[in-house]
Amino acid sequence: MAQGSSPYTKGAPRHVAIVMDGNGRWAERRGKLRLSGHNAGMNAMTEIVRHASDSGVEYLTVYAFSTENWKRSEDEVSGIFGLLVKFVELKLRELVDNDVVVSVIGDYSSIPKDAKAALERTIADTSACTGMRFIIALGYGSRADILNAARKLALDVVDSGGDAAARLARLTESDFAAKLSTSGVPDPDLVIRTSGEKRLSNFLLWESAYSEFVFTDVLWPDFTPAEFDRCVAEYNGRERRYGGRG
Ligand code: FPP
Repeated sequence: MAQGSSPYTKGAPRHVAIVMDGNGRWAERRGKLRLSGHNAGMNAMTEIVRHASDSGVEYLTVYAFSTENWKRSEDEVSGIFGLLVKFVELKLRELVDNDVVVSVIGDYSSIPKDAKAALERTIADTSACTGMRFIIALGYGSRADILNAARKLALDVVDSGGDAAARLARLTESDFAAKLSTSGVPDPDLVIRTSGEKRLSNFLLWESAYSEFVFTDVLWPDFTPAEFDRCVAEYNGRERRYGGRG
């Protein structure tokens, strides 16, 4: 299906953000290693990228690795980044063919060298694409991002000299949003979290102020395009008022 057309009655949400949760439990239930859950999760992610792009979603953000995920065992962490390299090697062509632009939010400076190189190659090779933007949150934590934005704004104010208090008083929400790593990306319309957990876990705290949340018990590796469509249908059934009264 061409980008922009949509199978949904009210149109596709412009930006969908997903907390891909439940890989570990999926593996445990099968008596497998956690990494095989992440591998299945990567396959689910690949399917959802293709499906979201085919359905007319313009931005898809996935929470792939949080700042807190560094606390996991060395084996699990290096396994996840190994999967990232595998994802890029196997799927780069498909991403380009589907006109998907890949970008990253978060601090991924300390990920393994090969994963960093693979990621940078993907960003470069998809930079001329004009279709859906696939944003991978990696080494991402929303509070750190907000703190960083505050630091950048403060530096701007200091650097510009003059009446700092007056400049501070004039700052708007858009000035602040422009310093976040999601600058230029519209706020998510729909945030999905899988595996039955009902938390945001430091994901897009500023950006999701008016997002609709859909929680599903499905574990991430079992999350199919049909389940994605069910979440979108639930979203389409909601009335969005952005704090006003209809
Ligand atoms: C959450 O499940 C998932 C993660 C922390 C990693 C997500 C990774 C992938 C989907 C595959 C790799 C893809 C990239 C782009 C790095 P969990 O382990 O917290 O599950 P649990 O709550 O059941 O233990």
